[in-house]
Amino acid sequence: MNNGPMLFLGLFASMAISWVTFVLGPQVQMGGMLPAQTVGGLAVSYPNNAPGLARQGAEVYRASGCAYCHTQQVRPTELGSDLAHGWGPRRSVAHDYIFDQPVMLGTQRLGPDLANAGKRMDATAVLVRLWDPTIINHLDSAHSIMPSYKYLFEVRKIGRTPSSDALGVAAPAGYEIVPKPAARALAAYVANLRQEPYLFEAPPPPGAVSTNAPAGGTNAPAAGSGVPALPGGTNAANPQSAVPNPQSSK
Ligand code: HEC
Repeated sequence: MNNGPMLFLGLFASMAISWVTFVLGPQVQMGGMLPAQTVGGLAVSYPNNAPGLARQGAEVYRASGCAYCHTQQVRPTELGSDLAHGWGPRRSVAHDYIFDQPVMLGTQRLGPDLANAGKRMDATAVLVRLWDPTIINHLDSAHSIMPSYKYLFEVRKIGRTPSSDALGVAAPAGYEIVPKPAARALAAYVANLRQEPYLFEAPPPPGAVSTNAPAGGTNAPAAGSGVPALPGGTNAANPQSAVPNPQSSK
């Protein structure tokens, strides 16, 4: 076969081009991404690393196959109705995932998107759903296609005093349902999922009022600071708010 070297070179070139495009390029562009300053409110650093229990929960999420049915990505308006659905205040961007290892975007939505699950429920609600998905069910209360994860709980005989962390769900007489450490970690992980602060590449929708001010805080300029307060405006003093919003062209 005389064309052996050409064949080899051709194959090599296709592999090399794919590697440069799909591995090297993204790595150069995003590999060293650092937390960003948020816009549309007080500028704070985002994202922050998840608390320890939630980090352990990410492993349970991964091992339990939650990502087979749940995504963690809010698509931009051009690519779907996620924003209209209320899955999040803004689309997901690469910054949201820089601390995730691995990133569990998911591909199928048999269940709701969980990118902002922490905005909708607390850890207890997640535990109840893991124990029995039909207890809190938006679709129809008798049935859920989400499997129950009962093995993450212990059905324990109530001792002299009931456990403080027993779940408030129906249990056989004399028994209580106590989440195992893996369940508690998983619930902390889900209840910690939030992609809310607005970023430069995912700015607030035009005219939206900022939501990422610290609780109880107002972003109005301090009295006497000489900066005039804008009506409904929250980020008057933030120079980045003058950047045109790429999403507003639609
Ligand atoms: C077989 C598919 C499937 C798997 C696997 C699955 N879920 Fe679900 N999940 C669903 C469906 C469907 C719903 C919504 C319907 C309902 O309310 O039961 C849901 C709902 C939820 C909700 C409520 C979301 C909301 O916005 O109200 C949470 C939280 C959740 N699942 C977490 C998990 C976690 C954590 C795991 C892994 C341990 C998991 N799910 C595995 C299908 C699944």
